[in-house]
Formats: sequence, structure tokens, C-alpha cells
Amino acid sequence: PIPVIAIDGPTASGKGTVAHRVADRLGFHYLDSGALYRLTALVALRHETSLKDEHALAKLAAGLPCSFVGEHIYLGKEDVSQAIRREEVGNTASRIAVLPAVRHALVGLQLGFRKPPGLVADGRDMGTVIFPHAQLKVFLTASVAARAERRYKQLIEKGFAANMADLLQDLTERDARDANRSIAPLKPAEGAYLLDTSDMNADEAVSQVLNWYAA
Ligand code: CDP
Repeated sequence: PIPVIAIDGPTASGKGTVAHRVADRLGFHYLDSGALYRLTALVALRHETSLKDEHALAKLAAGLPCSFVGEHIYLGKEDVSQAIRREEVGNTASRIAVLPAVRHALVGLQLGFRKPPGLVADGRDMGTVIFPHAQLKVFLTASVAARAERRYKQLIEKGFAANMADLLQDLTERDARDANRSIAPLKPAEGAYLLDTSDMNADEAVSQVLNWYAA
């Protein structure tokens, strides 16, 4: 079977960086599943779709004209790599991610990323729902303080404004929403290795994941 490494964890835990580097090191494909929720959110915001209209949102998710080219993410011909990182989009993504119809609409798209020679999938439910038979499952965490710090740096680097107090509040709210939703709540998958990266840099986390995969 085509190998899958599932890396799940809470917001701003550093999953994206780690998963991406692991994929590079192994020559595997990379799935940023959060980007699919962000893309759906971006389209919903543009169409002013009500966040209560589950059916309409699921339709948007099912018909996303998205493509992934290297580090860039496109909606049709438009490069939205930057636009989907806005806090408003992330916040909306987290709100629509609680809707079962939206999650169902994105399953096929996610499974399609599993291609030879292998896949590193990053998200909230990669090991629990989408790829339950993944060869390796990792649950990546970090303290709230470390995560807020990382998100702050990320936003500033991308040229967005950021405020620590707002970030901390937003992070805590998103954690609660991800953990408490009735569908695919965020939790370590069965057999997942726990990796707390509060006091670890990305290189150390990448080495640990590669070591587990090689073992
Ligand atoms: O940047 P952040 O880590 O907050 O989020 P992301 O990975 O870009 O994903 C955006 C939102 O989509 C998250 O807040 C989650 O609520 C949701 N999500 C999900 O429910 N399931 C996934 N597999 C990935 C993301």
C-alpha cells in the first residue's frame, strides 16, 4: 500500500512546517487539509454565504476549483496562498469545520492526495478519520504560549497585523471548537505518537518523526 504519515494537532502547533519538511525529506506528497477548510471559508466569505447554511457550504466545498502547485494554492487561476492565511479566513474555517456535510464533501478530495511514493497529511483528523490505516500517526502539540508565539511570528512575517491578546483568545476558542465538536473532534488517533514541541525547534521535531517512520 502507498504509505501515509498522518500528523494531527491543534492550531499553530507547528504541524504545517514539520509535515512539509518530512514530506520533502522523504520525497512524499503533502496534504495541508486545513487549507481545504480555509479555501471553503474564503469562497463562503466572498459569496457572503451564511455560516448557518450547511447545504450551501457543503456545495462550495464539493466544488472547490483548487489546485496545489509547489508551495502555492490556487482557486481557479488566482493564487490565494496569502489570502487564505488571513485570521478572518482561519476563524471562518474553524466555524465551518464543525459542519458534517462540509467535512463529508472534502473527504474524496483528501483521499486523492494519496499517490506514490507516499503522503504526509497534516490536519485535525488525518489519523482518526481520513487515513485511519496510516503507517505512522503523530499527534503534535505545544503549550498555548508557544503556539501563540508561533502564530504571532507567522502573521508578522506574512505582513499581517497581529495582537498577542487577541491571538491567545482566538487560539483558546479554536481549541475548544476543534475538541468539542460532535464530528471528528480533535484527539490523538489510536496508536499515535505524542510529540510536544513546546521546547523543540522544527528540525528536532522533523528528526523525531523521521526516526519513528524508519523504526
Ligand atoms: O492555522 P490553523 O492550525 O489554525 O488551522 P489550519 O490547519 O489551517 O485549519 C483551519 C481550520 O480548519 C482549523 O481551525 C480546523 O478547525 C479546521 N480543520 C479541520 O477541522 N480538520 C482538518 N483536517 C484540518 C483543519
